[in-house]
Amino acid sequence: MNNKIRTPYFLVDEKKLIENLEILKYVSEKSGAKILLAQKAFSMYSVYPIISKYLYGSTASGIYEARLGAEEFGGETHVFSPAYRADEFDEILKYADHIVFNSCKQIEKYGKKAKDCGKSIGLRVNPECSTQEGHEIYDPCSFGSRLGTTISNFDENVLNIIDGLHFHTLCEQNSDDLKTTVDAFEEKFGKYIKGLKWLNLGGGHHITRDDYDRDLLINIVKYLREKYNVEVYLEPGEAVVLNSGYLVSEVLEIVNNGIDIAILDTSAACHMPDVIEMPYRPPVKDSGKSNEKKYTYRFAGGTCLAGDIMGDYSFDNPLKEGDTIIFEDMALYTMVKTNTFNGMPLPQIAFKNINGEIQLIKSFDYNDFKCRL
Ligand SMILES: Cc1ncc(COP(=O)(O)O)c(C=O)c1O
Repeated sequence: MNNKIRTPYFLVDEKKLIENLEILKYVSEKSGAKILLAQKAFSMYSVYPIISKYLYGSTASGIYEARLGAEEFGGETHVFSPAYRADEFDEILKYADHIVFNSCKQIEKYGKKAKDCGKSIGLRVNPECSTQEGHEIYDPCSFGSRLGTTISNFDENVLNIIDGLHFHTLCEQNSDDLKTTVDAFEEKFGKYIKGLKWLNLGGGHHITRDDYDRDLLINIVKYLREKYNVEVYLEPGEAVVLNSGYLVSEVLEIVNNGIDIAILDTSAACHMPDVIEMPYRPPVKDSGKSNEKKYTYRFAGGTCLAGDIMGDYSFDNPLKEGDTIIFEDMALYTMVKTNTFNGMPLPQIAFKNINGEIQLIKSFDYNDFKCRL
């Protein structure tokens, strides 16, 4: 491994991570919720030993994350998949403690086998209550969603076998939206909860954000636990690593086409694809909005994609080749989504410990591009 740090690299900050974990631990202690890391947002397993001191376990979207969670995180391993594959299910049984199914038909297919192996099983339901606007691709309650069983498709026979119900409907939301969702969930599915062992309220709770109403979340969890005598799980991804990572890059060249454009050694398309998918403008250290400060630049990636653009940013001083550009809040949904389109090298992964020392965790090379093709 190349053990010299070079841009672009992801840098995860232990101090910031622990601040988030302390908040999650507080919520867990006050409410009695069992909190899991949703690995889809963050799977940098070298820091799992830190996170697992604070959380109850991990949740997975399929076989590889389930294995990573079981092998590297410990605690309880949960898995949810919209549809399991017959040729993978036995292996999933090796790793998972909780298996959540998306439909009653999936429970018919795999439920007994999972129960016979001692697993706790659940059904993901769709409370059909959209609380987010504008981001249909992130809204599991949008029209035609395949995610979760609607009340009209709910077959009461599954109550003979399931241990819990799961819903996931939120994305970067506050607890008032959770309250709205819980009301809708209870209205539709409330009569089925008594006698179950657990409820899983999914992810999308922005618990560690400054303006998040944690007291309301704590009250909702306590209310559900007391009313129905169930365990309550939360499985945030973003909230675990919110604002605790950076993507450090460098200006390679500046060109002008009606606006100054800084071409960086990173790429929105390859290294932060949510910037294009969501879309959103990632925060950049020491920058202002377009024209807020004296010198404005469009940040663009080094691929052939015309739309490989992070956004427009302004600075007090002109930028030049070799300047360092630090994208903030880059731990979540980045490392897990990188790709090598255009043969673009993958960013290194580094870690800043509580004493401020920076350690290189991972470097990638040509083989990481070639071996997948
Ligand atoms: C089922 C499920 N659980 C948990 C999460 C984690 O959500 P977030 O990272 O927004 O907290 C997701 C995200 O898509 C999800 O689909």
